[in-house]
Amino acid sequence: MGFDIIATSKYLPNKAVSNFDLEKIVDTTDEWIINRTGIKNRYYSDGESTVDMGYNAALQVIEKSGIDREQIRAIIVPTFSPDYMSPSVSCLLQERLKLSENIFAFDINAACSGFIYALKLAEGILASIREDEYLMIVGTECISKVLDFEDRSTCILFGDGSGAVLLRRNDKKKSVFSVGARGGLAELSCAGVNKLGLQPLVKMDGKSVFRFATRTMTACILDVLDKSGVSKYDLDYVVCHQANKRIIEYAQKKLDIPKERFYVNIERYGNTSSASIPIALAEMDEKDLLKRGMKILLVGFGGGLTWGGTLIEW
Ligand code: ACO
Repeated sequence: MGFDIIATSKYLPNKAVSNFDLEKIVDTTDEWIINRTGIKNRYYSDGESTVDMGYNAALQVIEKSGIDREQIRAIIVPTFSPDYMSPSVSCLLQERLKLSENIFAFDINAACSGFIYALKLAEGILASIREDEYLMIVGTECISKVLDFEDRSTCILFGDGSGAVLLRRNDKKKSVFSVGARGGLAELSCAGVNKLGLQPLVKMDGKSVFRFATRTMTACILDVLDKSGVSKYDLDYVVCHQANKRIIEYAQKKLDIPKERFYVNIERYGNTSSASIPIALAEMDEKDLLKRGMKILLVGFGGGLTWGGTLIEW
């Protein structure tokens, strides 16, 4: 059993933050950030919460698809920056979007691999609902609230935003996944609460995460190709989690897949964690790059540590 992605959407908050803006608050330069990461701009929430941004993406995807919102039977929200420990972002979206209460709604935290993990879970849930019912995944992150602006190597990487997709089961398709996890508190964390009860901040050992990311992404892509029996030459697009342009270039060269097949938008949004892959899909969709039948490999890695890849037929 597989699924069709019947609509996509993205939402970015209004506050654009360029590298030049960061130069004013952090000891960094536009040149350093571009050379080491490929990022030129990112967006920060200006008072909007993780739910607010997710709501905007979710509303658009429902409107674009033209479906009756009563037909949505499940919402999965991958996020590592929810507004509350409870209630979940997904439950608050059910209320805000006025969706049926006959719905399965929950958040998952697999950081930047969250969207791939959500697709894997979606496959199981879709098997239990009808073909005229839908599942929505909303990757939504407000990372700016957990950034340490005294840690220049980490704060420059991230941005806020949301991406949503609407899925319908398709019994003629077969999904293939490669997912994994390993505890990695030392490499990447957002942990502990300080004495004032303030949010913990993102801490990262950039070099270890870089090594982990390059190794994992290439292995994950190869595993998905192997399990699906699809040749790398038959891929129409590879959409990687957008963390660092150099990580994507490493995978592209190592696997010897033409550069044009990799969709890269990190220069505009930075690393939006679980929102990065759905934002990329929505942008590709807006540009009319995605045609039915195309083979698209999605791959992510991130905090946890977690990783995951899948091959979808558009
Ligand atoms: N501006 C200017 N100089 C800087 C900055 C900055 N923003 N940050 C670090 N530097 C300096 C360092 O101090 C160091 O100076 P030194 O040589 O005098 O000591 C020099 O630049 C080199 O620093 P490195 O840390 O070696 O730089 P590196 O090339 O490793 O790049 C980076 C750092 C961009 C963080 C890289 O390691 C990286 O991308 N890692 C992976 C991050 C990632 O992908 N995370 C994704 C998961 S996130 C999630 O799941 C939530």
